[in-house]
Amino acid sequence: MNKAKRKPVIAGNWKMNKTATEAVELIDALIPAVKDADCTVVICTPFTTLATAVEKCKGTNICVGAENVHFEKSGAYTGEISADMLVDLGVKYVITGHSERRQYFAETDETVNKRTKAALEAGLTAIVCVGESLAQREQGVTEELVRLQTKIALQNVTAEEMSRVIIAYEPVWAIGTGRTATSEQAEEVCAAIRKVLGELYGEEIAEATVVQYGGSMNAANAEELLSKPNVDGGLIGGASLKADAFGAIVAAASK
Ligand code: 13P
Repeated sequence: MNKAKRKPVIAGNWKMNKTATEAVELIDALIPAVKDADCTVVICTPFTTLATAVEKCKGTNICVGAENVHFEKSGAYTGEISADMLVDLGVKYVITGHSERRQYFAETDETVNKRTKAALEAGLTAIVCVGESLAQREQGVTEELVRLQTKIALQNVTAEEMSRVIIAYEPVWAIGTGRTATSEQAEEVCAAIRKVLGELYGEEIAEATVVQYGGSMNAANAEELLSKPNVDGGLIGGASLKADAFGAIVAAASK
């Protein structure tokens, strides 16, 4: 393991929260809270807030990401947003395959792959989410499932594009439940993800790829989770909506 090779990435996922007007206040509070970060700081916001977020974060150390992207370049896809539209706004990151999209919006491993490819081809960095449900953990298939999700999400992703891929391990049972994975559970699955990356792309790329943990990460548990050799950052939901909590997680990742 060589964690020193990887700069931690702390990314907020605002989900369907904050109007553009409300976002101004939160970003004003976030800027001083994360200004001394020694890690990459990203906020992924709703589409309607992206333009405001990009404008507000100019000249700061906060990067802006979207929460989803469509896989076609343009066309008759009412209500969808393309990767080029995000790039044009100044967005740098995008989440693909979040479990809430898989659960509520019929996202499949194949569409996650298509979205990830489209994002990478447009020059975005993709934060690709994988993770098991509680039933799957209890069935003892976590590792197989996460391996499968990772392999399908990365179909046709080139070695060059892997420098713009982050994998986020988010156990579904830990999201928004206050039930965090233990640092051992997070480490075990993040290490398994790195192993599959090694099988697909070789040791060097596997060692260089950021693998995050997400699921009820907060100011109190971040340091312990991030102390694990294969946990290179966090994808933060609820706690990313509070500047002090998000700032504390960023500080933990900067140690
Ligand atoms: P919570 O931090 O609210 O559990 O959400 C995690 C998540 O889904 C981030 O993408």
